[in-house]
Amino acid sequence: MSGSLVRVGLLGLGVVGGGTWKVLARNAEEIARRAGHHIKVVAIAVRDVEKARKLVGPDVFITRDGMELVRRPDIDIVVELIGGDTLAREWVMEALRQGKHVVTANKALLAMHGNEIFALASSRGLMVGFEAAVAGGIPIVKAIREGLTANRIQWLAGIINGTTNFILSEMRSRGVSFAEALSDAQRLGYAETDPTFDVEGVDAAHKLTLLASLAFGIPVQFDKAHVEGISDLASEDIAHAERLGYRIKLLGITRYRKEGIELRVHPTLIPVERVLANVEGAMNAVQVYGDAVGGTLYYGQGAGELPTASAVVADLVDVTRLQAADPEHRVPYLAFQPDAMVNTPILPMSDVISSYYLRLRVEDRPGVLADLARILADSDISIGSMFQEPHGVNDADIIFLSHQAREGDVDRAIQKIQTLPFVKSKVTRLRVESLL
Ligand code: NDP
Ligand code: HSE
Repeated sequence: MSGSLVRVGLLGLGVVGGGTWKVLARNAEEIARRAGHHIKVVAIAVRDVEKARKLVGPDVFITRDGMELVRRPDIDIVVELIGGDTLAREWVMEALRQGKHVVTANKALLAMHGNEIFALASSRGLMVGFEAAVAGGIPIVKAIREGLTANRIQWLAGIINGTTNFILSEMRSRGVSFAEALSDAQRLGYAETDPTFDVEGVDAAHKLTLLASLAFGIPVQFDKAHVEGISDLASEDIAHAERLGYRIKLLGITRYRKEGIELRVHPTLIPVERVLANVEGAMNAVQVYGDAVGGTLYYGQGAGELPTASAVVADLVDVTRLQAADPEHRVPYLAFQPDAMVNTPILPMSDVISSYYLRLRVEDRPGVLADLARILADSDISIGSMFQEPHGVNDADIIFLSHQAREGDVDRAIQKIQTLPFVKSKVTRLRVESLL
């Protein structure tokens, strides 16, 4: 590093990059007191140079070419905040080849290419900070990697996408339409460049993939995650859930079982009295259960300019403090020593154990309920509760809540139910978690 000045190159000056610039400027002295060095952005790569120049003034080098930036000899740390996994990957890999430490908020990049990025960084004795990539401003990476290091993590569940939580909250509490809520989330800077990543659960799965690796010491395996978003969620299911004492949240859940690890993102019914059920707006929260500590909960702003910048700058300070440390004595990227990573399998969705909410429309006549109950019983699914609501003169909507069951058994039961002559709708299936 260059004397008492740590020189940073910023790839991207958008929502998070702009926030990082602002936090480094406004808290410069406080940050230097903590880091032991002044941290200064000396170069920036963006597409729109004029816009960037207006924010940062005349003294910072600005280029459109990220490759030029990462190859500059005067830069100690490259901060990647452009997003995506093509150019970002090329520039991050080159930054590491050039001997620069890297900080990134890019969960897509790490969920897809984390294994090769960490391997290259490790071979060069370099750090890769990614606190901002999971749950914005909440220091969840540090909490799992360092604070809970004594524990066998048993499971974690989190609201880790601000955009979808914002949409669900606005739809439920203010009756706003899906499209209007999404457009507000985009305006507020929460959504990804491609908001289908948020809405379809992909962004949450990127983050969950990283959390699972930190929790269980397994390689990053986004391709094995089960991913379901909120675009197919019907407003009547939100209302039925309320009536049953539940709230629907898009949860990322990973759980250690002796057969393997569950890794899944989907809309989930949670009892309304749980803290996670009451996390609203763009707020995020992650509940982590360790064998020694028991349940712990981490809550805060999961997206947006300054909260995310808070995590980026925390990583910058960490890198600055640790640059002189022997690489082998630094905290490992994924919490476990690289040679102690394990290949515990990710379980297929059919082996997941959960409780279930099933809704279907049927003809309202004798024997219907008995036939449905028989199929569920034959499939080893025990009914916890049910209610029926008339629909028109001849039909009824039936809602079942099951006790815990294997998802494969539920799939088979749904297939059989779907063939019954009195069933008049597709069966809606949602998972239910008690979070205890
Ligand atoms: P923005 O779209 O707001 O900003 C992206 C920045 O990257 C812009 O400054 C853009 O330049 C620059 N950029 C994009 N492509 C290029 C390119 N080819 N060459 C040079 N510069 C380029 O994104 P965000 O700040 O929202 O997100 C950045 C990263 O942070 C993403 O990985 C995202 O997932 C992650 N993240 C975002 C959060 C949020 O709340 N927004 C929270 C947590 C993580 P220009 O300005 O000229 O267009
Ligand atoms: N699009 C993401 C979200 C940004 O809504 O949570 C934070 O990672």
